[in-house]
Amino acid sequence: MVPPDGREHGHPWQFLGRYHIVLLHVPLVLLVLVPVLDIAARSPRRRSLGDAAGALLCLAALFCFVTAFDGWLLAWSGGYRGDDVTRHMWAGALLTGACTLAWLARRGALPRAAYPPLIAVAVGLVFWAGHTGGSLSHGEGFLTERMPARVRALLGMRPVPQAPAQGKALPAAAVKAGPASVNPANAAYYAVHVAPLFERSCVSCHRPQKHKGGLQLDTFAHLMRGGEDGAVIVPGNPKASELLRRVQLPASDDDSMPSDGDKPFSPDEIHMVDLWIAAGARSG
Ligand code: HEC
Repeated sequence: MVPPDGREHGHPWQFLGRYHIVLLHVPLVLLVLVPVLDIAARSPRRRSLGDAAGALLCLAALFCFVTAFDGWLLAWSGGYRGDDVTRHMWAGALLTGACTLAWLARRGALPRAAYPPLIAVAVGLVFWAGHTGGSLSHGEGFLTERMPARVRALLGMRPVPQAPAQGKALPAAAVKAGPASVNPANAAYYAVHVAPLFERSCVSCHRPQKHKGGLQLDTFAHLMRGGEDGAVIVPGNPKASELLRRVQLPASDDDSMPSDGDKPFSPDEIHMVDLWIAAGARSG
C-alpha cells in the first residue's frame, strides 16, 4: 500500500475520499447500538433484539472496512501526512480489527467469552478514532478545548492557554508592533505584516497536519524551508520567489494561491510581501 505522502493525488480519488467524513457515522452508530441492544435483550420479552444486535455488528464490521479504506484514500489523495494522521489510521485499523473479532466471537467462531471485552474495546476505539479524526479536521484538541477548567483539572489535563485577543498568529506581533515594524528591513515587519497574511489565507492547507505541496507556512522556519520544489522565498529577490509569483497569478491559473481562491492577498498585501522579500526576508 502507498502511505500518504502529503501530496495531492488526483481529484476523483479525493472526491471519493472526502466521503470518509460522511461514511464514518454509519459504523459509529451501528457499533454503539450493539451493546445497547445486547443489554435490552437480557429481558425475556425482548430476546429478538439479540438477533438484531448480531446483524448490526456484522454490518458495522463491513462498514468499518469500507470507511477505513475510504479514509486511507482521503489521506493519500488529499495531501495529509504527519503523526496525527498516522495515529488516526491506527485507531481506524484497530477499530476495524476489534469489530471483526467481536463479530466472530459473537458467532462462536472464537471463544464466546471473548465477546464482551471485544465489544467494549471496539466501542472505546470508536471514541479514540473520533477524537484523533476530529483533531485532524477541526484542529488539535477540538473536543476538549472548551471543557470547563475544573473538569480538565480533574482529568489531569493542562489548562488551555488564553487565546490572544487577535488570534493565533499574533502574539509575537502584538509585542513587536511599533515604529520598528514599519521598515520591511526590520525583523519585526514579518511578524506584524507578513505572518498574519499566511495565517489568514494559507495555513488551512499549509500546516504540519496538511502540508500541500510539501510546504508549511505556519512558522518562519517552515516558510524558509520551502516546499517539494525547493525554496519559495529568495531573500532579496522577489522576482525569483515562487511564493510571490503564485499569489500574484489570476485565480483562474492552476498555480494560483490560495488555490481555492478564498481570501486572496490584496494588491497592498502583495506589495508588503514584495517589500519584505526585497529587504532580505528577515524575522525576529
Ligand atoms: C485550499 C488549499 C490551499 C490554500 C488555502 C493555499 N494553498 Fe498553496 N498549495 C496548495 C496545493 C494543493 C499545492 C500543491 C499543488 C501545486 O503545487 O499547485 C500548493 C502549493 C503551494 C506552493 C508551491 C510549493 C512547492 O514547493 O511546490 C506555494 C509556494 C504555495 N502553495 C503558496 C501558498 C500561499 C502563499 C498561500 C496563501 C496565500 C497558499 N499557498 C494557500 C493548496 C493551497
